[in-house]
Amino acid sequence: MPDTAATAAATPLLELRGVSKRFGAVQALADVDFAVHAGEVVGLVGDNGAGKSTLVKVMSGIHLPDGGAYVFDGERRSVQGPNDAAALGVATVYQDLALCDNLDVVANLFIGRERISRGPARLARELDEPAMEKRAGELLETFSINIPSLRAEVGMMSGGQRQSIAIARSLVGDARVVLLDEPTAALGVAQTAQVLELIKRLREQGLGVVVISHNLVDVFEVADRIVVLRLGRTAGEFDVGATTQEEIVGAITGGRGVVGDRVGGTGRPGTAAAGDGREGAR
Ligand SMILES: Nc1ncnc2c1ncn2[C@@H]1O[C@H](COP(=O)(O)OP(=O)(O)OP(=O)(O)O)[C@@H](O)[C@H]1O
Ligand SMILES: [Mg+2]
Repeated sequence: MPDTAATAAATPLLELRGVSKRFGAVQALADVDFAVHAGEVVGLVGDNGAGKSTLVKVMSGIHLPDGGAYVFDGERRSVQGPNDAAALGVATVYQDLALCDNLDVVANLFIGRERISRGPARLARELDEPAMEKRAGELLETFSINIPSLRAEVGMMSGGQRQSIAIARSLVGDARVVLLDEPTAALGVAQTAQVLELIKRLREQGLGVVVISHNLVDVFEVADRIVVLRLGRTAGEFDVGATTQEEIVGAITGGRGVVGDRVGGTGRPGTAAAGDGREGAR
């Protein structure tokens, strides 16, 4: 197991420098610096529309920034699409998870990267089920993911198990950075705890993890560092051990809010992150 304190102090695994992104009239990101280290969990927070998902999509190669640098392992890289980011080991878990309910766990883990048996003179290509099942079993064991069976259909499983499988899927291809957009948003208390534990195990394994969340309770439980975006700009960066929810809410709202207030004025439920506990934030 890596010494997380030492690795976290080293060169960031993934770094964005001065990144900007405009959608028509909307400046979604303006000169944003962002970094995640190996063995570190960074909580990315901010009001609706602050630019969090856009920032993650720049990291995952889905959005090309208008300006700024993409630096991996201390070297500037040309990331022109999701395949380039994936090749660096940057894996993303989206909120809709995109699991296939009618397929089992192994099939879901290997969607799009199925292993093919290599044998002499096969008439048809065959999936290498034993190899996939072995790797699936190893992954789930490494990260202590509890599911009823590798061969159970994922449609039968709980939200927490499904989220865990989606995260495990991102790890199949030797990930080094995992980006999670609202991984606990749809989950109950026990399932949230399960996913937060999994995130901690990703850190223990030396991965760099970025977690977007509107729930500051979750963020404080799992993150080492919190980055606040506000109107597309970095509004603050805080070590979790040296800050408070009040301070984070202040950065999110630009000083408008206090703990217990709704964060922002969108009127959408689930956006008031701080101080109101899990029920109010879901
Ligand atoms: N593909 C797009 N086309 C046009 N505008 C976009 C696009 N994606 C994002 N935006 C705009 O960019 C801004 C930032 O959006 P983004 O989705 O990054 O916010 P967010 O912080 O993830 O918000 P939320 O908490 O609601 O998910 C918003 O004003 C949004 O409307
Ligand atoms: Mg978003």
